[in-house]
Amino acid sequence: MDQTLYFILLLIALCSVSECVQRQYHFINVRKTWTEAQRHCRENYTDLATVDNMTDMNELKKSVNDGGVQYIWIGLQRTSVDKWQWSSGEPALYLNWKPEQPDGRDECAFMKNGKWEDWQCSNSLTFICNSSNNMNTGLVFVDQMKNWRDAQSFCRQNHTDLVSVRNQNENQQIQKFINDNHISNDVWIGLFRVRDPWQWSDQSNSSFRDWKTNEPDIVGKLKNCTVIGPKALDQWHADSCSNQLPFVCHEDKLILITENLTWTEALRHCRQNYTDLVSVHSDERQRRVMNVVKGASTEAVWLGLRHSCTVGLWFWVSGETVCYQNWAPGNGTGDEDCVSAVRSGAVQSGGDQRWISRPEHDKLNFICSRYEE
Ligand SMILES: *[C@@H]1O[C@H](CO)[C@@H](O)[C@H](O)[C@H]1NC(C)=O
Ligand SMILES: *[C@@H]1O[C@H](CO)[C@@H](O)[C@H](O)[C@H]1NC(C)=O
Ligand SMILES: *[C@@H]1O[C@H](CO)[C@@H](O)[C@H](O)[C@H]1NC(C)=O
Ligand SMILES: *[C@@H]1O[C@H](CO)[C@@H](O)[C@H](O)[C@H]1NC(C)=O
Ligand SMILES: *[C@@H]1O[C@H](CO)[C@@H](O)[C@H](O)[C@H]1NC(C)=O
Ligand SMILES: *[C@@H]1O[C@H](CO)[C@@H](O)[C@H](O)[C@H]1NC(C)=O
Repeated sequence: MDQTLYFILLLIALCSVSECVQRQYHFINVRKTWTEAQRHCRENYTDLATVDNMTDMNELKKSVNDGGVQYIWIGLQRTSVDKWQWSSGEPALYLNWKPEQPDGRDECAFMKNGKWEDWQCSNSLTFICNSSNNMNTGLVFVDQMKNWRDAQSFCRQNHTDLVSVRNQNENQQIQKFINDNHISNDVWIGLFRVRDPWQWSDQSNSSFRDWKTNEPDIVGKLKNCTVIGPKALDQWHADSCSNQLPFVCHEDKLILITENLTWTEALRHCRQNYTDLVSVHSDERQRRVMNVVKGASTEAVWLGLRHSCTVGLWFWVSGETVCYQNWAPGNGTGDEDCVSAVRSGAVQSGGDQRWISRPEHDKLNFICSRYEE
């Protein structure tokens, strides 16, 4: 074979990569409470399972290799009480919920017979605005069905804001206003929930949720943990954390270490505790690296990139050829200063997050990998 062609074919073979998952799910078919399950996962893997999207959800389901399993824990837990606020910006100190409300599902509040209930903000209701135009009551009823956000915009543009109810006296005034004006509908008030009290065990702020209709049902506040099931594992339910169930852990494949080490120290740390310093051989992997370095405390973060002065080439310490490249302009040419120090490669933690060449004794954060390349 022609030597050049042979070399090209060899490069193609070396450069083709198979994509790996970002996190790997591990099904543990042992019944534990949610907290025990969390401890087990933290000791043996990264944490109880976090799910970012449908792809993760499918990977998680695939990991469950026992068809008889009904329900399994994932890492989503209710960790704070609901925090409600008025559209006007005032904190909600006075609350007048109907018994068993709010039920934890919804983000906006309406008034019915003087009591408040939570409901999905996307539903349409008539509403009441605070208004300086009405000298008498300071209230205006808008007899148009709008979702909560649109009702808020309407009030803000045409009046003052969606109505606030700051005390019992104001609540009674509004009830009287509703009776006097023969308003038969439920009406939106300006109360909304500030944040989702459900948090992932690993502190990820993934907002992906796949609750079954009418879930999370936390009436009585006894159900603070999340299970998926039954059987098909495609619906999330709130459940009591003290139940004993099998569970799924996840293991992050890229780990940012926020210690400041030289490149050689970083390599030793990763090889001893994980698999290796990370190599980046695709756009996909580069995106994951960019995501991980957001938490770095140094302006650049070591990669498994090393320069060899002997051959004037960059290479990955995992043994792969540098095919995919993401160098900052002027970096990675192979034409390095070989006198003062050996050069190693790092990714910028800010800006374009491109790769740069640094003297190996610089002390930087680094990324270890658990991939077996
Ligand atoms: C559920 O979580 C809420 C908010 O953190 C807390 O007030 C409540 O006591 C918890 N319930 C149980 C049974 O742990
Ligand atoms: C303000 O009121 C006018 C007249 O009813 C309406 O056309 C307009 O859409 C309202 N503004 C908003 C933001 O809803
Ligand atoms: C958390 O969410 C915010 C806003 O959605 C995002 O900017 C931030 O990067 C996220 N943090 C992490 C650690 O993912
Ligand atoms: C690492 O270095 C950065 C930048 O010099 C510094 O802000 C950070 O505190 C250092 N971290 C540690 C663990 O020493
Ligand atoms: C492995 O990790 C432990 C705990 O973080 C650390 O003390 C140790 O130094 C690491 N090993 C190396 C070779 O850095
Ligand atoms: C490498 O990239 C950095 C950041 O863009 C730049 O400051 C530096 O000058 C580049 N190095 C060379 C040799 O051009």
